[in-house]
Amino acid sequence: MVNNISFTRAETCMVMEPRHSNIMGNVHGGELMNLMDNTAGITAFKHCKGDAVTARVDEIVFLKPIHIGDIVTCVGQLTYVGRSSMQIMVSIYVNDFSSDVMPEASLKAFFTMVHIVDGVPTQVPRLVPKTPEEHALYALGEKKYLEIKAKY
Ligand SMILES: CC(C)(COP(=O)(O)OP(=O)(O)OC[C@H]1O[C@@H](n2cnc3c(N)ncnc32)[C@H](O)[C@@H]1OP(=O)(O)O)[C@@H](O)C(=O)NCCC(=O)NCCS
Repeated sequence: MVNNISFTRAETCMVMEPRHSNIMGNVHGGELMNLMDNTAGITAFKHCKGDAVTARVDEIVFLKPIHIGDIVTCVGQLTYVGRSSMQIMVSIYVNDFSSDVMPEASLKAFFTMVHIVDGVPTQVPRLVPKTPEEHALYALGEKKYLEIKAKY
């Protein structure tokens, strides 16, 4: 089986509420990481049509603070798949309703999710990049996958 990268894209929108706050009054980093993990899980589910566990999170970068009252969009996008693993780029954007321009991401990370059936890592469908942007992401994902493989 084969999926297009765009088919597996997942988006979650949320209002940041006082319960998401850290002691400084900004949004707690752990709340954002929870949102990212859930979005990565949905992206993985769309691709493999089954369970997946988080095996790894790389390069999590908090670029800008997020505030209580902000409406955020978390986007998960597959970049590359191995045999049983799926690499997913997850970004969080703060919506700016005064502009049509997509804001820069406030937070980014790469998740590796592994498809599990009966407790065993299991083959996932192949992934097909179509647009030039998807081809660039796929090449980046393959490079990261091979770098991580070389470490183990
Ligand atoms: C992820 C896990 C299933 C991998 O098990 P494993 O015995 O190493 O399995 P394998 O060696 O067959 O590897 C399976 C895939 O995971 C990848 N993988 C394993 N460890 C990895 C790591 N640390 N980083 C990135 N990828 C990893 C392998 O490269 C392989 O990918 P591929 O099939 O696409 O080539 C296992 O380590 C695990 O269950 N971890 C805990 C997951 C968890 O509880 N997450 C939190 C809650 S969801």
